[in-house]
Amino acid sequence: MRDHAALGMLRLPTEILFEIGAVRHAPSTALRFGSRVLIITDPVFSDADWLAGCRAEIAASGVSELITEVTPELPIDGVGRIAERARQFGPDVIMVFGGGSAIDLAKVLSILLLQDVEPASLYGEHRVRPPTLPVVAVPTTAGTGSEVTPVAVVSDPDRELKVGISSPLIIPRVALVDPQLGVGAPPAVTAHAGIDALVHAIEAYTARQATIDQPGQVPVFVGRNGLGSLLALQAVEVIIRSLAGAVHDGADLRARADMAWGSLLAGMAFGTAGTHWSHALQYPVGAATHTPHGLGTGLLLPYVLNACRHQLTEEFRSLGQAMGVTGDGDAVIGRLAALGAEIGLPQSLAAIGVAEADLERFADLGLGVGRLAGNGPQPATKERFLAVLSDAWRGSLRP
Ligand SMILES: NC(=O)c1ccc[n+]([C@@H]2O[C@H](COP(=O)([O-])OP(=O)(O)OC[C@H]3O[C@@H](n4cnc5c(N)ncnc54)[C@H](O)[C@@H]3O)[C@@H](O)[C@H]2O)c1
Ligand SMILES: [Zn+2]
Repeated sequence: MRDHAALGMLRLPTEILFEIGAVRHAPSTALRFGSRVLIITDPVFSDADWLAGCRAEIAASGVSELITEVTPELPIDGVGRIAERARQFGPDVIMVFGGGSAIDLAKVLSILLLQDVEPASLYGEHRVRPPTLPVVAVPTTAGTGSEVTPVAVVSDPDRELKVGISSPLIIPRVALVDPQLGVGAPPAVTAHAGIDALVHAIEAYTARQATIDQPGQVPVFVGRNGLGSLLALQAVEVIIRSLAGAVHDGADLRARADMAWGSLLAGMAFGTAGTHWSHALQYPVGAATHTPHGLGTGLLLPYVLNACRHQLTEEFRSLGQAMGVTGDGDAVIGRLAALGAEIGLPQSLAAIGVAEADLERFADLGLGVGRLAGNGPQPATKERFLAVLSDAWRGSLRP
C-alpha cells in the first residue's frame, strides 16, 4: 500500500509470451519485423532440432544468418568482429536464444548494427540514441531476466569491473519464455542463474523508495515502486518453492516452469526498480575470483539484508509471507542462507579465494558503482560495505 500511494512504474517489451513450447512462435514473431533475421544462439544449441526448424520456417518467406560466437560474461573486445559480420548481412530484426550473455550480445548488436559508435561511449545510463534494431529474446536460463530488461552487462578488458549499458531503447521488443529450453541446463548453471533471479526480486523489493524529482529526466532504474513490488513478491514465492528442485532434478518441468516464471517476473521488477548492494559488491568479487555473477550475488544477499535489517522491518514481513516463514529478519535471512547451502553455493568469500586484505578495496570499488550502491535501503558508506564484506568473508552473520 505504501508503494502504491507513492509511485508505480514499469518499462517492458511490447509483448511477453510465457508458454511451455513458446519457442515455436519465434520464427513467425521475428518475421513480423522484416524478412532478414539475424539469429544469435548460445553454442550449446547449435545442433538443436528446434533451431533447425526455426531456420527452415524463416527460409519459407525470408532469410536468416546464424551467429553462435557467444562467450559467457560477454567480453566486449570480440563484439566488434561479430558486428562487422552481422552488418554485412543487414538484418531487419535480431532473434536470440541463450542466457544473459547471448541476450546481452543481441542488445549491444541492436545498437552497433545501426550506428557507428564505440561501445565504451555507451557505458552508463541513457547514453544510447535511436535507432536500434528490434530484438526478439528467448531465454534459456532462469535467469537474468535480460529478455525484459533495459541493460546489457559487458566485460571490458580495459576496466577492472564489468560495466552496464542501460537504456530503455535496448529492452527487447518481444520476450518469448519457454521453460522447456532450460531442461538441459546443468545444476551449477541452474543454481547460479536461479539464485540471481531471487536476488533480483528481493533487491527490487528492498531498494530505496522511488521518487521522480524531475519529469523528463527519469533514471533508467528508479527504485522500489508499487508495480515492481507486486511482481517481485510473486517471483520470490515461486523461486523459493522450486529452485532447489530444479537444481537437483533438472528434468522436473514443473520446477523449471516455476523458475522461468519467477525469473521473468523478477526481471520485470528489477528492470525498472533496479538492484542494489549485492550487485554492487559482486562486481569486484566477480572480477577478482572469476566466479559467475549469480554465485556472488547469491552468496552476498543474506549479508546485505542483515546489514540493512533495521530499515526493512515491514519488508521482512511480506518477504516472510512469500517465503512461507515467519516474517522477521532472522527467519527470512536464515531461509536464504539455508537455500544457498542446499543448492551448493560456497558459504563464504574466503571459500572462493578472496583475500581478506582485498576487502577494503572491494568496498571502494563497490561504492564506485553508483547506480547500484545508491539504490539500497539506506545510504551506502564504506563502513557499511566493509561490514557486509567482512561478514561474508568469514561466512558468519553478525547479530
Ligand atoms: N541484462 C541483464 O538484465 C542481466 C541481468 C543479470 C545478469 N546479466 C549478465 O548475464 C550473464 C550471465 O547470464 P546467465 O546466467 O544466463 O548465463 P550465460 O548466458 O553466461 O550462460 C552460462 C552457461 O550456461 C550455458 N547454457 C545456457 N543455457 C543453457 C541451457 N538451457 N542448457 C545448457 N547450457 C546452457 C551457456 O552455454 C554457458 O556456458 C552475465 O554476463 C551477467 O552479468 C545480465
Ligand atoms: Zn543479477
